[in-house]
Amino acid sequence: MSPFLDVKDLKIHFPTDDGLVRSVDGLTFSLERGKTLGIVGESGSGKSVTSLGILGLHKGKGANVSGEIWLDGEELVGASQEHVRGLRGKKMAMIFQDPLSAMHPFYTVGDQIIEAYRIHHKVSKAVAKKHAIDMLGRVGIPEPRSRVDSYPHEFSGGMRQRAMIAMALSCDPELLIADEPTTALDVTVQAQILDLMVDLQREFNSALIIITHDLGVVAELSDDILVMYGGKCIEFGTADDIFYRPEHPYTWGLLGSMPRLDREPTERLMPIKGSPPSLINVPPGCAFHPRCPYVERTAGKAKSEVPGLIETEGGHLVRCHMSRTERRELWENEIKPVLENQ
Ligand SMILES: Nc1ncnc2c1ncn2[C@@H]1O[C@H](COP(=O)(O)OP(=O)(O)OP(=O)(O)O)[C@@H](O)[C@H]1O
Ligand code: SF4
Ligand SMILES: [Mg+2]
Repeated sequence: MSPFLDVKDLKIHFPTDDGLVRSVDGLTFSLERGKTLGIVGESGSGKSVTSLGILGLHKGKGANVSGEIWLDGEELVGASQEHVRGLRGKKMAMIFQDPLSAMHPFYTVGDQIIEAYRIHHKVSKAVAKKHAIDMLGRVGIPEPRSRVDSYPHEFSGGMRQRAMIAMALSCDPELLIADEPTTALDVTVQAQILDLMVDLQREFNSALIIITHDLGVVAELSDDILVMYGGKCIEFGTADDIFYRPEHPYTWGLLGSMPRLDREPTERLMPIKGSPPSLINVPPGCAFHPRCPYVERTAGKAKSEVPGLIETEGGHLVRCHMSRTERRELWENEIKPVLENQ
């Protein structure tokens, strides 16, 4: 049987005056019901563009989208805008990075939840309103009975974020994509929201994608983790593969720059030097090469060759020219000891 979500060679390119922006450039992954995938990468690596692409939100906006997105046996890249819109809410929903972009300014928060709920559930307005109040309460909005009639601008940033999460969760989506769902929230609320998403997942056997630039957020929640760099997957594996047997130098960098509870947020172990690549003039060969200390180790390949995403063991995929032996030796002898001893 094919996976619940099956993304194949997804490309999302934006023609601009400065050139073609290759935001997502050949992404392939799949996700089953009841499972959680973490997508991790620095700012600008294409995480949000990927999620908006799955929801069909680039349609009709001049982006070049190619490849295939299969959701529960239906292909969405070739489907009409209307059809994909109809799937939003119940089949798939998203917690957006920017809450305002997801809410209509002229309708109360309650009406927006009620409307979305009633598209998919044949219930009276009163029942839908009760559900909306219940959802607002579950995401930690105080006095949900009165707040249900507020407009988005009447909420503070954190409350707006919670209201948007309530909106996304209100139809019990089969696929939920949470794009940096907790960055604007304090630690207690973050934990509350993540718990809520996990509850939803257990209750409805939903597939969950959690997007973040911080590996720490997805450590405990994810079954699989996809590490993105410059619009491509550079490493994919189980959470254990990524935390205990990572093989890509960029993943090592992300692990080294994870914020730690016992340190100041500004104090990072081994920050990755340099900046993310331009997506218009992507560096030739391995896009990470300008920042990589092991750039000379090409295992006989030409530096100009783009490394393929190769399986190293049991579904663990890595995009790097170094030989598997070299990568493992570096991890065991040089990287892991530094991370462990700090
Ligand atoms: N409509 C657009 N037109 C042109 N370029 C775009 C468009 N949308 C996104 N991009 C570019 O695509 C790249 C990837 O953006 P994206 O928002 O997916 O990054 P991200 O990984 O979500 O980063 P962050 O962690 O900051 O949210 C960025 O360089 C961005 O400028
Ligand atoms: S391919 Fe080369 S430059 Fe790229 S990550 Fe591997 S070692 Fe570094
Ligand atoms: Mg983003």
